[in-house]
Amino acid sequence: MFLIQTERQAMTADTKAFEDIPADAVALNGNDAPLRTPAELAQIVERAAASGDWIKRVRLNTERRWYERIYAGPDHDLWLISWLPGQSTGLHDHGASSGAFIVAMGSLEELRPQGGTFRIERSQFRHFGPEYTHDVRNNSDAPAISIHAYSPPLTVMNEYELEGGEVISRSRIQWEVSRVEQKSSPQDAEDLADDSRIEQRLKAARARLTRVSPVEARDAVERREAVLVDIRPASQRASEGVIPGALIIERNVLEWRLDPSSSARLPGARSLDLQIIVFCSQGYASSLAAADLQDIGLWRATDMVGGFQAWWQRGLPSV
Ligand SMILES: [Fe+2]
Repeated sequence: MFLIQTERQAMTADTKAFEDIPADAVALNGNDAPLRTPAELAQIVERAAASGDWIKRVRLNTERRWYERIYAGPDHDLWLISWLPGQSTGLHDHGASSGAFIVAMGSLEELRPQGGTFRIERSQFRHFGPEYTHDVRNNSDAPAISIHAYSPPLTVMNEYELEGGEVISRSRIQWEVSRVEQKSSPQDAEDLADDSRIEQRLKAARARLTRVSPVEARDAVERREAVLVDIRPASQRASEGVIPGALIIERNVLEWRLDPSSSARLPGARSLDLQIIVFCSQGYASSLAAADLQDIGLWRATDMVGGFQAWWQRGLPSV
């Protein structure tokens, strides 16, 4: 897919800011497609992250960062990257391409060669113009996922290293754009843009979850493989009833009670491997809550489809 040419020459750090790019700039990729500005690329990655489509494609690789080009168009391309704790790009630029990237899950850090470290949390993005040099890494203790857009589509990345404060060129990576299979289209993103923000957020959350039915939840608890967590407020529990044996943790303290590293955790919250099945009244707020639990490292967290009401309608025990 790519070839590496090694070259070694001293160069000065290039810090061309995205503000330098004229709005009517024309692409250099030979097809006269208009360039996307860094701000437009930021909108593209925001929309891609909100779609939640990326979750089905993500893979994790313990050896090195995993990445896949998920869209290649005439004016820009899109990349999906996963980062396990400690994985990083090293110092690099993106050739003549402008770019933007958003953190879809977890958090990342960006380091600039002339100093400056930026922490990028979930839903936050960075954007930049051509020949922008940076090093991006996952300095957290949980996996991170990011989505990147480049215009013109990425064909070259130059890798560098810092020696005595000087930026030294190390290698060049070239991609063959023509071989990239187009696996998604901008139309997909347009369709998703019709949803309200909260619907997009819900779709993105559920795309990450392996949701369970009330019967599956009951069976997992009976096999002692999962803990059922009731996040409804007291007034709702009083009017609807409760599930015997379910752990009651109201939504506003959920993460603090279940994070093994929290001083306010419950005694049983000792492992990130714990499978937590969250439920609420109808199974909407629980999806967002379960995704938030995944964000703090509880990677098996999920929720119960239909919530307490589905449990009750199924005739399962409640008091
Ligand atoms: Fe980069």
